[in-house]
Amino acid sequence: MELRIALIGFGVVGQGFVRILAQQEEWLKEQGWDVKLVAVSDIQKGSVYNPDGLNIDTLLNLMLNEKTIAGYPDGVIGFDGTKTISESNANLVVEASWSNLETGEPALSYARRAIEMSKHIVLTNKGPPVLALCELKKLAQDNSVELRYEGTVLSGTPAINLGQLNLSQSGLRGFRGILNGTSNFILTLMEEGQDYDAALKRAQDEGYAEADPTADVDGHDAQGKVVILTNSLLNADIRLSEVHCEGIRGMSKDDIESARKEGKRWKLIASAERIDDGTIIASVKPEKLSLNHPLASVMGATNSITFSTEYLGDVTITGPGAGAFPTGYAIFTDILDIIRCIK
Ligand code: HSE
Repeated sequence: MELRIALIGFGVVGQGFVRILAQQEEWLKEQGWDVKLVAVSDIQKGSVYNPDGLNIDTLLNLMLNEKTIAGYPDGVIGFDGTKTISESNANLVVEASWSNLETGEPALSYARRAIEMSKHIVLTNKGPPVLALCELKKLAQDNSVELRYEGTVLSGTPAINLGQLNLSQSGLRGFRGILNGTSNFILTLMEEGQDYDAALKRAQDEGYAEADPTADVDGHDAQGKVVILTNSLLNADIRLSEVHCEGIRGMSKDDIESARKEGKRWKLIASAERIDDGTIIASVKPEKLSLNHPLASVMGATNSITFSTEYLGDVTITGPGAGAFPTGYAIFTDILDIIRCIK
């Protein structure tokens, strides 16, 4: 089987993904799967399309030396996202550009177009699943294509697929976790004595923060992830506005210090629960946790989720929630899952 990938977005995540793709080339061949990258399109870094496949080393060297792929020697240069989807021979589109949780655009239009053109779609962009998951799932079903978005929550640490597969009949009632790496990183550094602005700057330098980091520190990134998890795993269709949201922006060194004196630690906790009358209660807010609470020991940019189930009790997963390889790996696993579904 031949999979021809078009990648929209060639930032930290897109580049992490193509590195993994190159490293896994032999293994993919051994499985009998012909997976090639045919197009890359990025609004800032340029775009190139070659129906026979692109050389990943050449792309990465161009990025290293010229910060743009516009000088790629052998292909069609300059397709925007829409043309890349419409006019390339790709049969799978990966959308890994910056998330916009207000409009979802342009990723939402790209996702619709890819699906309508019978192309499978993998998203790490949170906009489309936050704003239109049910619509996109139905569209994908109607067009007989696969839609995956594991990387939108906890990057490659399996959260959505774990919930949808292994925990699907576990009597899942809800979840509670640390879903934003940037704010957890900032809280950790503040506890080590750094001030808020310096800690935020480091989170940006490490590539964890959103394009506009207010989405991280005001809780909106975690709020979006609550919507994605709730609508994926709790058989719901809630909107962003239904998730109460408070961030960590106002938090001072004094707040951190007074919690420490009480034997506690602040964490930005994201949660959702289906209560007895069937409604969903969902929120993102800072909470002071006792140090022996499992989520209190999750430090730095690490994420964690505790799923509350009937048959298993609590199931907790902890792992990276952002970054080049962790999110690139989510794309890779989504593609493997699609191959296994369609072959
Ligand atoms: N800005 C996000 C975070 C990136 O800090 O968790 C991953 O969604």
